[in-house]
Amino acid sequence: MATATSVQSDTPQTKTTGPCCMIIFGATGDLTKRKLIPSIYNLLKEGLLSREFAIVGMAKDELSSEKFREHVKSALTEFCPGADPELVDWLVVHSYYVSGEFGDIAAYQRLREQLKEVDKVHGTHGNYFFYLAIAPQFFAPAVEKLGESNLSEEENGSWRRVIIEKPFGRDLESARELNKKIKDVLFESQIFRIDHYLGKETVQNILVFRFGNGIFEPIWNRNFIDHVQITVGETVGVEGRGGYYDTAGTLRDMVPNHIMQLISLTTMEPPISFDADDVRDEQSKVLHAIHAMSGEEVIHNAVRGQYGPGTTAKGERLPGYRQEPSVNPQSRTETFIALKLSLDNWRWAGVPIYLRTGKRMARRHTEIAIQFKRAPFVLFRDTDIQNLPSNQLIINVQPEEGIALTFGAKVPGPLVKVGPVNMNFNYQDYFGGEAQTGYEVLLYDCMIGDATLFQRADMVEAGWTVVDPVLDVWKALPPREFPNYPAGAWGPNEADELLARDGRQWRNI
Ligand code: BG6
Repeated sequence: MATATSVQSDTPQTKTTGPCCMIIFGATGDLTKRKLIPSIYNLLKEGLLSREFAIVGMAKDELSSEKFREHVKSALTEFCPGADPELVDWLVVHSYYVSGEFGDIAAYQRLREQLKEVDKVHGTHGNYFFYLAIAPQFFAPAVEKLGESNLSEEENGSWRRVIIEKPFGRDLESARELNKKIKDVLFESQIFRIDHYLGKETVQNILVFRFGNGIFEPIWNRNFIDHVQITVGETVGVEGRGGYYDTAGTLRDMVPNHIMQLISLTTMEPPISFDADDVRDEQSKVLHAIHAMSGEEVIHNAVRGQYGPGTTAKGERLPGYRQEPSVNPQSRTETFIALKLSLDNWRWAGVPIYLRTGKRMARRHTEIAIQFKRAPFVLFRDTDIQNLPSNQLIINVQPEEGIALTFGAKVPGPLVKVGPVNMNFNYQDYFGGEAQTGYEVLLYDCMIGDATLFQRADMVEAGWTVVDPVLDVWKALPPREFPNYPAGAWGPNEADELLARDGRQWRNI
């Protein structure tokens, strides 16, 4: 394992956010409780949150601010065990609630009044960010009402921003329509389309790894790389979200958003600076370079699957997808996909990107594997080591977090034998670190107005452009053989055949 003589604590982030108020739409939901409130607490604890701060929750449930405060407290008790009671009390006292429907203008007028009071009491200066943790059909109406009630208006030097959750559309057309509707009300600089994958340290580290080191970038291209494999394996099923999932499927749920982030960060050109638009211009460029498949190419390069009953690695029985609650017992929704993509640009021409993701896989594991070409000259011809394995660089995203490089080393002894070995960097070994939700950096960046880790309209649409042809073909040709893999496996055989046709195979994870 690689060791470091010292770990430089880079420029520490000590800048606190300016004064502002976070307004959470969908304040009584799961995301608020599990991620948003704990993240705000973590920022407070780290001294990154301005003391001129407040939270206003809004949802249709009839609650008083007093009751909402109990909700905040219980979220912190449950999801931030061992939280500092003084900080918890501080956050509780800075929390308010307004009840109302997201399409009802009267609710926004009540919200406006509440915000005026919050500005007076907590000095939040009219700086507001609205977090839309609500069902996607309410995104456009909520933004429209923010406009009508003037809450989106940046007046007297204050700022107003809106964070929009996924799913952002369900195909290219609906994503474009949603972009258009929200841009009728907001400037692009006020829109923060969130993708929680960009809150993951290991995902952000792809940029640092590639562009903060001199030795990798020169070999990061078609001359040295044979192909790229991305695996996003989940062991969970649909976790009580059967109703949503059955109308979405794995392709929509994971690919245009999370997996496109992994691809764009791995393949983009170096930006000219780390300014939000310079980074996003490069991401957008490479997303636009992904080859849009023809119908015939979809048939060859896209695989779908649905899990039937199976067993975990420990032998526990698992139900099939069609037996999950709120799922149609004849459902044709996919719970697994594998794709072969290619990029039409000079750096990546001829380097396939294989990706697979699914529910109820054998392991929870997300990685990007860069498979390098073999050594150009077989020095060890006529020995039993002529088939040397090629080098792989594995970016482990989760749950292991780190980077590993595999290469061949001579096995000690009189005979020339080569064994595969690993150089392994593990986040935990170097940096330790306290439990974070992954939303801290995203909320913080929104508060300081840095949109680097958020999606621009063109990026979201580019992601859907890749996925759309697959959706079209799959809709026209419904699957006949579902379920086609048992829960607890790595997808259907067709996923292996996709690589086998090219003389390759998935990494054994
Ligand atoms: C969500 C999807 O966006 O991401 C879920 O809707 C999926 O279906 C989740 O399970 C995966 O996130 P993570 O952070 O657990 O990899």
